[in-house]
Amino acid sequence: MTLIDEVKTRTDIVDVVASYVDLDTSSRNPKARCPFHTERTPSFYVFPETGTWRCFGACATGGDVLAFVMKQEGVEFREALHQLADKAGVKYSADTGSLGAGAEKEAAPKATVIEANEAAARWFSQMLLSSEGGAAREYLASRGIDTEMAERRGLGFAPGDGTLTLTGHLRSSQVTPEAARDARLVVQGDDKAWRDFFRGRITFQIRDRRGKVIGFGARSLDGSEPKYLNTPQTSVFDKSNVLYGIDWAADPMRQSHRAVVVEGYMDVITAQEHGFTDVVASMGTAVTPDQLKTLSQIVSGGDESGEVVLCLDSDSAGQDATLRALETAWEQFGSKLTGSTSARGRNLTVRVAMPAAGKDPDEAIKADSWAWRTSLDEASPLIEFIMQANVRRFDISTGEGKARVVQALSPLIFAVDNDYDRDIYWERLSTLLEVSTERLRSMAPRTVPRFGKGGSAASSGRFRKESISTDQLGAALTGTAANIEEHVLALVFQCPELREFVEAIPSDYFLDTVNRELFTRWVRVTTLDEMLETLSDDLTEQATRLQSLSIPPSDHARRVGEVTLCARRLRERYMRNLLKLTEITLKEEENTLEGEEREQLRNRTLDPSDHLKKVFQAGATGRV
Ligand code: UTP
Ligand code: MN
Repeated sequence: MTLIDEVKTRTDIVDVVASYVDLDTSSRNPKARCPFHTERTPSFYVFPETGTWRCFGACATGGDVLAFVMKQEGVEFREALHQLADKAGVKYSADTGSLGAGAEKEAAPKATVIEANEAAARWFSQMLLSSEGGAAREYLASRGIDTEMAERRGLGFAPGDGTLTLTGHLRSSQVTPEAARDARLVVQGDDKAWRDFFRGRITFQIRDRRGKVIGFGARSLDGSEPKYLNTPQTSVFDKSNVLYGIDWAADPMRQSHRAVVVEGYMDVITAQEHGFTDVVASMGTAVTPDQLKTLSQIVSGGDESGEVVLCLDSDSAGQDATLRALETAWEQFGSKLTGSTSARGRNLTVRVAMPAAGKDPDEAIKADSWAWRTSLDEASPLIEFIMQANVRRFDISTGEGKARVVQALSPLIFAVDNDYDRDIYWERLSTLLEVSTERLRSMAPRTVPRFGKGGSAASSGRFRKESISTDQLGAALTGTAANIEEHVLALVFQCPELREFVEAIPSDYFLDTVNRELFTRWVRVTTLDEMLETLSDDLTEQATRLQSLSIPPSDHARRVGEVTLCARRLRERYMRNLLKLTEITLKEEENTLEGEEREQLRNRTLDPSDHLKKVFQAGATGRV
């Protein structure tokens, strides 16, 4: 038995949760007010049979006992595992993976990791102004950035081969070696010597909303690859959640109720300098659900509705990975992302601005800032963009092409919560495909959960039977579930070219913490080896097993199909679980009530989709 299995078997999730929160254990599924957000009525449930928990409220997250401890304690996987092992009296070796000498030492506290970053930031700024920084200053000047602007925007220079090193500087400062290491500012080479992580690069400070430096991006000067090197995952830096420029943009966004998301560091700087103050960057990828959640909370404060405008670079606009990320965003935020003109209950609108003639925002703003402003104002609603992109992707002159478009889009349309908007989207699709709306609906896949009251077969708002068949659920909740997860991981570990097709899967879709952890880490690095280097033994075991799991020979197109199908399965399972759990909790609620209240709840229970809807909407508004 692996350490993880042993710890899980010997740990009672109810005990663990109860040691942190005031858990009401009087019902079969213990519940509490969610420890991860403020709420008045409990929407946090523990499910002892499956060893999982879930918050049905604003966080809409869940997982197993390890995920709970990680979130509750704000610690990484290995630390959570060790804490639980200690509690359960399970022995483990304190081998700390591959951090090398010094790794036996304690992890540096977050505050000192930030201090290390702040010290590095000051030093990089100094270096830019020093004689070492000549070439860097010249490069910046060639892009219209003088030293004053560089200072205003936190730019710096990390020297390359010279004698001056950050490692040396930090040694003679207050920063501890553990903090420098855990900030990933210094790395250990094969010869065990520590050296600077960033060398010969222009540095960009990445700060949190309060202005604390949590990491860096760094651009090469001479065209060497990678063009940008970023701080890897640290205790204070999680790429999926970072928005470059958020400390400049948060106040303007709150005032204008708009957030503009571009892809690059330079784009943000140029935008800010030209008075577009509500602009942030998503770190080079399409926006993640976490980033969208953060932005929606900023722009739709109070009763005001807000909007997020996503500016895609021309090269990413056509990429499958971008499209999938956008589809995921739509699904996760469901109905709140309406793009239509219906005024009712519209809290967040997401739109997509198309690049003008192959220019990224940095170039476009410099060329014609007025035209760029107009392109933001004229951005298309997200669903419209997704529809158009799918129509372009398949050959819609054929029946099969049309069917594929319908297959791709119907889940997104079903995710819309009001009849009015949903009808508009069916009509729109009908126009695009030149197929009647009746036919469209009959072509739509049958296993899609119905979130809304519309749709011919969704009598009284219930879901179609087959969408939550108990067999499937059983399989999804137990053995087979792990198989899909493992299959995806084995495929992508062994076929790196599949990366772009799975990157956008939300890590929540993985129920097993080890798989989830491996997936999250793999997404953040560029090669499997890079990931393996940083893994603790517990994770390495599973990673290497998956790496050597035999997968049948196949060609690229089939592999893509396979991995896409797996991704879809994971998503379906995630949604089915939500449905199932929602039903359980509603039933329980019903049992605790009497008379009239019970009647009221029954009426509500007729439409469990209402509850589910809330779960999805909560993400977009931060309210339930
Ligand atoms: P781009 O390649 O579009 O670069 O990557 P850019 O921002 O326009 O930079 P310049 O104008 O050439 O200097 C967009 C963003 O993607 C991330 C960075 O956040 C970058 O700003 N990126 C890009 C990386 O993280 N690594 C890379 O190697 C490239
Ligand atoms: Mn650029």
